[in-house]
Amino acid sequence: QIPVIAIDGPTASGKGTVAAIVAEKLGFHYLDSGALYRLVALASEKQAIDPKNAPKLGVLAQNLQISFEKGQIILNGEVVTDVIRTESIGLKASAIAIYPEVRQALVGLQHRFRQIPGLVADGRDMASVIFPDAVLKVFLTATATARAERRYKQLIAKGIPAKLGDLLQDLQERDARDSSRGTAPLLVADGAKVLETSDLSIEQAVKTVLDWYQS
Ligand code: CDP
Repeated sequence: QIPVIAIDGPTASGKGTVAAIVAEKLGFHYLDSGALYRLVALASEKQAIDPKNAPKLGVLAQNLQISFEKGQIILNGEVVTDVIRTESIGLKASAIAIYPEVRQALVGLQHRFRQIPGLVADGRDMASVIFPDAVLKVFLTATATARAERRYKQLIAKGIPAKLGDLLQDLQERDARDSSRGTAPLLVADGAKVLETSDLSIEQAVKTVLDWYQS
């Protein structure tokens, strides 16, 4: 079996950053599953699909023309790496991610990232649904305030205007929806280790995951 490290957690917990570094250190492939939901959200916006039309969104997700090349994400021939990172696409992604039609359509695509020598996958349901046989399952989290501050710093560093209060409200809304949805809710999977990162640096979080994997 090709080893998978599953890293799940709420929005802005830093799981993407940690997962990408762990993958690099181990020479593993990396799956940012949230990007797939963001791509469906962006594609649905471009095609003016009703965000409540689950069957149509499912068909759209099934037929996504995407590729990941040298750190760039390409949707239907267009580079969308930065466009999918906005808060507005994040909120839309979480709204369409409630539909089983959308989630089901993305299963095969996610499984195809599992390649030799291994995979680090980050998201909400990596350990519970997509890779239940992961060798290591991590639930990476931090308090809502710590997460809002991290997102704020990220946006400001990129020159994107942001308000801390709005970000906190957005992420609480997203947490509530991700945790309460009927399909693949955000939860600590069976056998997952919880990593609380509010007071940890990225380096410390990465080291903890690597130690867990190697022990
Ligand atoms: O970085 P952030 O956590 O804000 O977002 P993301 O990981 O890029 O995911 C965007 C949205 O997609 C989340 O709010 C989830 O609702 C959804 N998602 C999901 O349902 N399942 C996943 N495996 C990954 C993301």
